[in-house]
Amino acid sequence: MPSVTAKTIKAGVIGWPVEHSLSPRLHGFWLDKYGIDGVYLPLPVAPPNIEDAIRALPKLGFVGANVTVPHKEAAFKTVDTLSDTAKAIGAVNTIVCDEDGELYGDNTDAFGFIENIRAGAPGWRPSDAAAVVLGAGGAARAVIAALLDAGVPEIRLANRTKARADELLAHFGHGLTVADWDERNAAMNGAGLLVNTTTLGMTGKPPLDVDLSGLSVAAVVNDIVYAPLETHLLADATARGLTAVDGLGMLLHQARPGFEAWFGVRPDVDAALRAHVLSGTGSS
Ligand code: ATR
Repeated sequence: MPSVTAKTIKAGVIGWPVEHSLSPRLHGFWLDKYGIDGVYLPLPVAPPNIEDAIRALPKLGFVGANVTVPHKEAAFKTVDTLSDTAKAIGAVNTIVCDEDGELYGDNTDAFGFIENIRAGAPGWRPSDAAAVVLGAGGAARAVIAALLDAGVPEIRLANRTKARADELLAHFGHGLTVADWDERNAAMNGAGLLVNTTTLGMTGKPPLDVDLSGLSVAAVVNDIVYAPLETHLLADATARGLTAVDGLGMLLHQARPGFEAWFGVRPDVDAALRAHVLSGTGSS
């Protein structure tokens, strides 16, 4: 790594814990690739310190930071101004400090999600058919915001704890219907997109138990889980001739707007980046 000086542009990722975050690996690759005098650091911040730490960013000369679990809602409450997407999702994952030390909060997870689908399934047309979203956590919020923005006519949401799905229905207000978790297979009838935002299928968790036979023959199946890269869900989709889109691209694409805002270059997502980031996951 080139030596760090007072002029080196500083950014990082705030989380707790943060050591498993792939963001330093990802931004580090781009900093090298584009020859930028910058650093991107893991910033472990315990929950009681989150507001102070975010407020300190511009005082320490940081141009901004990503925010990850469990701090995205606290970041939403702490920043000075919010993007429309951050408002729609209710969480901030990207902070940009301006010259006056004001903090701008954005959420690029929705952008990352939709860019990943567009790259992995170029034939997908949002307005053609309903989408099914499984899960109702923070990731589901970003996915729903992106799908509404893209013009999907109907989003069918199913979550084990139905009350959380009902909360999302109340939050977004239109374009959504809620199905019982036990009715998730029936909810797929004729749908053109299925997105798993639950943790099922992740290494160490049970697989997601679904029957894909009701989906449209042209459907796209996306798992936001990326460890393993090919989940049972995606293998099943591929075996049925559906288009399977893995979850790593969402992580890679969500990082692009922050990198551009902080370091002044709009970075590319390509095979070399994927391979570099994957080598840090133990996945293949
Ligand atoms: P995130 O904010 O990253 O999306 P989260 O809030 O922990 O993460 O959400 C995890 C999702 O996986 C939730 O929708 C959760 O369902 P509940 O709301 O009922 O907890 C879902 N999930 C986790 N384990 C599950 C299981 N065994 N069966 C069904 N859904 C599960």
